[in-house]
Amino acid sequence: MRSFKLLLAGCAVVMCSAFCHSQTTLAATPPMGWNSWNWFAEKVTDKDIRQAADLIVSSGMRDVGYTYINIDDTWEGKRDANGVIHSNEKFPDMKGLADYVHSKGLKLGIYSSPGPLTCAHYEGSQGHEEQDAKTYAEWGVDYLKYDLCSFAQTMKQAYPDDANARNKMMRDAYEKMHQAILKTHRPMVYSLCQYGNDSVWQWGPQVGANLWRTTNDTSANYDRMMIIAFAQAGLGKYAGPGHWNDPDMLEIGNGKLTHIENISHMTMWVIQAAPLIAGNNLSLMTDDVRSILTNRAVIAIDQDKAGKQGERVFAGEEIEIWARPLADGSTALALFNVGRDWNTMAGLTLHLKEAGFPGGAHAYDVWAGKDLGRIKDTDVMAIPGHGAVLLKLTR
Ligand code: GLA
Repeated sequence: MRSFKLLLAGCAVVMCSAFCHSQTTLAATPPMGWNSWNWFAEKVTDKDIRQAADLIVSSGMRDVGYTYINIDDTWEGKRDANGVIHSNEKFPDMKGLADYVHSKGLKLGIYSSPGPLTCAHYEGSQGHEEQDAKTYAEWGVDYLKYDLCSFAQTMKQAYPDDANARNKMMRDAYEKMHQAILKTHRPMVYSLCQYGNDSVWQWGPQVGANLWRTTNDTSANYDRMMIIAFAQAGLGKYAGPGHWNDPDMLEIGNGKLTHIENISHMTMWVIQAAPLIAGNNLSLMTDDVRSILTNRAVIAIDQDKAGKQGERVFAGEEIEIWARPLADGSTALALFNVGRDWNTMAGLTLHLKEAGFPGGAHAYDVWAGKDLGRIKDTDVMAIPGHGAVLLKLTR
């Protein structure tokens, strides 16, 4: 009996070391990379992906941590007689594409759905999970975004009047693909996309998710972006090494976002330990956008190895203050002015007390790269309309 118990304990250690290891080393910090959807959407081709890989390298983005080149929806072709999925004519050679991306020191991401169809109505993985995971592994895929899409209808048809049963069905579907990935023995970052339904942050890690979307789709629009960002309040405790909240991919460099709005966007994502998946057309990237996306001091906050997501410490009408504790004992403090005009915090103060610095702090302005010396709880700061300030506070 004793030896049986010891054997069981031994098995548990081996299983935990395999499982826990993959949990903590894969996406140990929030994943960084680029995804095709926000710019190319359904028009993306093999050529665009190769070009993105080239430009991630030549722009210096790879060297500051952008690693995953992710093909979003619309790469899917038909299944053959054996049920094996093939890419469509826009992607003539997936294995060749993966080899190319890997030759640049980068990793390749792909996209599918647990339903019969993806959101753009291409072939999904329902009923072919193991087969698809195997195909991805054979191609050399390193990351899967798994998007609910048509599975919502499958759930509704199965349980029109039972939300709990529908939710269970969804979790099972995500777990099914998780198991299929594990079976390939190829590490793949597993990215859940079901728009934050059913408090995914509470069960995402149990179905193997390394990240999970917390909201519906973003857009290159300041108001939409900040609505999404502020809706993250309270979710910080669910994130950590290997498992992250994902408020969606970056829109920096897209649409009409101004320099100041792009700074706010990046500031919000790094204070929240969000995945940094760029979504712009890298061949059109301006020096200004590149400098925002590649700011090493700012990225270091996102990638801080303690992996603690920041939280809101104060919300006024036009001012929000968020704080994030960092591994070296310092705290990142982000101040946002969602109003349109320059604002010296509308009479509000820095709220350093709530951020854990009742006696004031030594502050470093991260975007400006400037030491600000001592600051006090009762100080205010000048913040441009739609702008943000990112500070690093020490005692
Ligand atoms: C959904 C997702 C997007 C994108 C599209 C592709 O809308 O939320 O991020 O993947 O599908 O069809």
